Amino acid sequence: MQRTPKILIVSPDARLQAEVAAALKGIADTNAVLHYATDFRQAIEGIRSWRPTFALVEMNTDLRALKSFADEASLASPETNLAAVFSADLFGHDISESAILIEAIRAGMQDFLRRPVSRADLEQLMERLHRKAVLPAAVATGKTISFISNKGGVGKSTLAVNLATGLAVRFPQRVLLIDGSLQMGVCASMLDLKPAMTLTDAVRDRNRLDETLLRQLAVPHESGLHLLAAPKDALEAAEVDEEAMARVLTLARRCYDYVFVDTFPMIDSVMMAVMDLSDRVFLVTESVVPTLLGMVSLIRVLDSLGFPKDRQRIILNRYSSFAGNLNPEDVADRLDRDVDHVVPYEKQLLIASNIGRPYVLDATTWWGIGKVFYNMVADLPDIQAQNDPARNGMVKPKSDSALEKEAPPS
Ligand SMILES: Nc1ncnc2c1ncn2[C@@H]1O[C@H](COP(=O)(O)OP(=O)(O)OP(=O)(O)O)[C@@H](O)[C@H]1O
Ligand SMILES: [Mg+2]
Repeated sequence: MQRTPKILIVSPDARLQAEVAAALKGIADTNAVLHYATDFRQAIEGIRSWRPTFALVEMNTDLRALKSFADEASLASPETNLAAVFSADLFGHDISESAILIEAIRAGMQDFLRRPVSRADLEQLMERLHRKAVLPAAVATGKTISFISNKGGVGKSTLAVNLATGLAVRFPQRVLLIDGSLQMGVCASMLDLKPAMTLTDAVRDRNRLDETLLRQLAVPHESGLHLLAAPKDALEAAEVDEEAMARVLTLARRCYDYVFVDTFPMIDSVMMAVMDLSDRVFLVTESVVPTLLGMVSLIRVLDSLGFPKDRQRIILNRYSSFAGNLNPEDVADRLDRDVDHVVPYEKQLLIASNIGRPYVLDATTWWGIGKVFYNMVADLPDIQAQNDPARNGMVKPKSDSALEKEAPPS
């Protein structure tokens, strides 16, 4: 079937127009209509009056201007897809392509095209956008929540699985958990799932990855949660680089309301990409001095990167109060940060992960761990804007649960 996409090219460089026109010539069954704008002001006028299928926007180093352009363009014509066009050396040779890509996502771009524009890249971009157009309207941008530490075994996976599951019960099919603990993913086992497909399949298919394919690669859990499982082994894990992770995350945010990411305890480029794209980063620690020292250095790294504090939350996990243990105030003093949530030691969490049934599915939200999880979920970005804010909405209470026996507090 003949396609007639309306393409607006936004660039002061006339050579880009020629590149796109040449690339389009080689694409079968496509009769694109091209318009040009040499600056953002002209482009906004064009977008408002002409409502193109997509705008190919040449990136420059003024990311603030790009962001205001993207904001204005999406108000003027929400159906127009914005794709950033960039040269690999845009920010100089020492800045990687994935860093450029992340900046573009932050500025509100939805896809990418490298210069010089090739027929294959342009065709794949149009294919992704076409498939997106035939799907029912998706949420514009879901929120990304990651769990980070530079020390192993502090409870990242436990918290990621339980919070994601708790939220999925409330919003079935709208929450995705990505097991980004690349070499040692445990989320599938904590959920008693046996995934045939993993994050590696998403990465291998990165060029034709779209919302339909992403949902096919994710495994559904009985709670309503979807899981994009970790690679099967270290060899497959090595295929996941920061650019691939950024692409998967960007797409995931377009088709899920919440995307949770469990991570591996190491600050590498993949982890940096995850943090960069996170609306909320849970920094998980314990009241054990060596672990706290590690957290102090992680916080220092985040500060030096200028990572905003309001996107961070400090979680003190596996806490028990006994003589000689550091209490939450001591921990806050050592970190020079408030502790936002204290998760008590609860042996049922360990049992739950052994049997593959998240503890949150059986917990009341009125006290203990269930209450802490409830408060952590209530503190997620945009959660109030979602429907059904009723307290017992996070987890459906079992018919014989304590929740029903107790009168809820007013
Ligand atoms: N609040 C808690 N109370 C009791 N046990 C807990 C708690 N949180 C986590 N655990 C247990 O601690 C162990 C480590 O937890 P988990 O695997 O979630 O840590 P992690 O940070 O993901 O580890 P890694 O860095 O290796 O990925 C698990 O056995 C888990 O059941
Ligand atoms: Mg883990």
